[in-house]
Amino acid sequence: MNIKNICCIGAGYVGGPTMAVIAKQCPNIKVTIVDINEARIAAWNSVNFDDLPVFEPGLADIVKETRGKNLFFSTDVDKAIDEAEMIFISVNTPTKTYGKGKGMAADLKYIELCARQIAKVAKQNKIVVEKSTLPVRTASAIKSILDETGNGVQFQILSNPEFLAEGTAVQDLLMPDRVLIGGDTSTKEGEIAVQSLVNIYSEWIPKKQILTTNVWSSELSKLTANAFLAQRVSSINAMSEICEKTGADVREVSKAIGMDSRIGSKFLNASVGFGGSCFQKDILNLVYIAKSYGLNEVADYWEQVIIMNEHQKNRFSDNIVSTLYNTVSGKKITFLGWAFKKDTNDTRESSAIKIADNLLSEQAKISVYDPKVTPSQIYSDIDYLGTRAYEDNKALLTVSKDAYEACNESHAIAILTEWDEFKNYDWNRIYKNMQKPAFIFDGRGILDKNTIESIGFTYYKIGSGN
Ligand code: UDX
Ligand code: ADP
Repeated sequence: MNIKNICCIGAGYVGGPTMAVIAKQCPNIKVTIVDINEARIAAWNSVNFDDLPVFEPGLADIVKETRGKNLFFSTDVDKAIDEAEMIFISVNTPTKTYGKGKGMAADLKYIELCARQIAKVAKQNKIVVEKSTLPVRTASAIKSILDETGNGVQFQILSNPEFLAEGTAVQDLLMPDRVLIGGDTSTKEGEIAVQSLVNIYSEWIPKKQILTTNVWSSELSKLTANAFLAQRVSSINAMSEICEKTGADVREVSKAIGMDSRIGSKFLNASVGFGGSCFQKDILNLVYIAKSYGLNEVADYWEQVIIMNEHQKNRFSDNIVSTLYNTVSGKKITFLGWAFKKDTNDTRESSAIKIADNLLSEQAKISVYDPKVTPSQIYSDIDYLGTRAYEDNKALLTVSKDAYEACNESHAIAILTEWDEFKNYDWNRIYKNMQKPAFIFDGRGILDKNTIESIGFTYYKIGSGN
């Protein structure tokens, strides 16, 4: 089937970049991204391309090239569903905050609402593609809602999980390691649906990198990929603590083990813990699925990845407190970085949030600088935890537009995101304007120890015991 019209429900970090790249690579397909969040759609339609709601290197240029030609952003969900032959569901699937599976299972209410809306609106056969990460067997739930509540039209459900990482989304989409499409190829209609999506990706991705599987394998592969990646970070973070005790350096260990081709060199950077919207959510989801099948050992195994991650954040803030003579009350501590990784404005599950919360509970004064995250986002992240009153957060935490200003008069700097610009700062100037002794807690291990110590700083590098 030759797809001419695509609709994507959800204009977020996944839907926005993915559809922009499809629009760029397939100029003959009209792509409409819809969202119920009017402000978000308005931001995607901004005249100024710096104001797009998602910051990703290279994304603004693609939106500039395609918007108004074959890429459209709209709040008219029904119209876009009606017109499209293929509908991607790319809405959020946060961890449940209530009821059964609270704190573990994925909340599928947004997905279900989409399915019901598609069923209500569709007057012709549609291919529905799951883009959001979903628990295994969600496709069957979507299918039954569509079939039971629809207008008698046929629906084919595909699973097409997204493997892009934020900060490199455009590159990941243009040159993915692989594309995964799960579908029911036991029927002719299912086979046609799978081929329709394969054809779209084939416009720019070599066929051998487009894998087709059954729906359940596809859904589970996404959870598995994220669990393995997160496990690597927790594994190296566990070693970082041993390194600090023994005098080894985790970067040397990473290099040494990464040269073993069976292990590989990527994703071995010790850090203040992983963040992002996927890792924790997907592992919790995996743990929940395992428990629901009575697989308690499997559940415990994966849960340990999360436990280690929490430990890494807590030990980082504990170390700041103990190094600053066991009290940070009234002391100014500067956070360089708030995003969960560099080159994104996304802060979901960022380690900075937990570390700030821990230090604010010790009555520290925190000053934050991040090149891309807005002050309102930072306050909403910390207020969301509900640890203390909104006014207290406002009084104890300030946000600066300038890194040097953020560091003035501060007792210590915590580097929490690996933004490249931090490496090029005038650290002499920063040192001069700080309280003495001046400390740097480098939670990303990005600065050069000798240079920083020669300036006069007391320098802690994550995973370095020297
Ligand atoms: C992840 C997966 O990589 C991606 O395939 C999936 O589609 C979504 O989830 P993302 O969360 O955007 O992507 O970023 P990623 O680069 O995976 O980083 C996640 C977290 O792990 C970040 O906080 C990052 O700083 C941290 N990390 C990563 C480390 O601490 N050390 C590493 O070596 C790598
Ligand atoms: P992700 O990182 O998975 O892209 P986001 O939270 O960035 O997640 O984006 C998901 C988007 O989906 C949000 O902008 C949200 O408003 C939108 N959304 C959720 N439910 C619906 C719905 N029923 N119809 C349209 N858009 C929806």
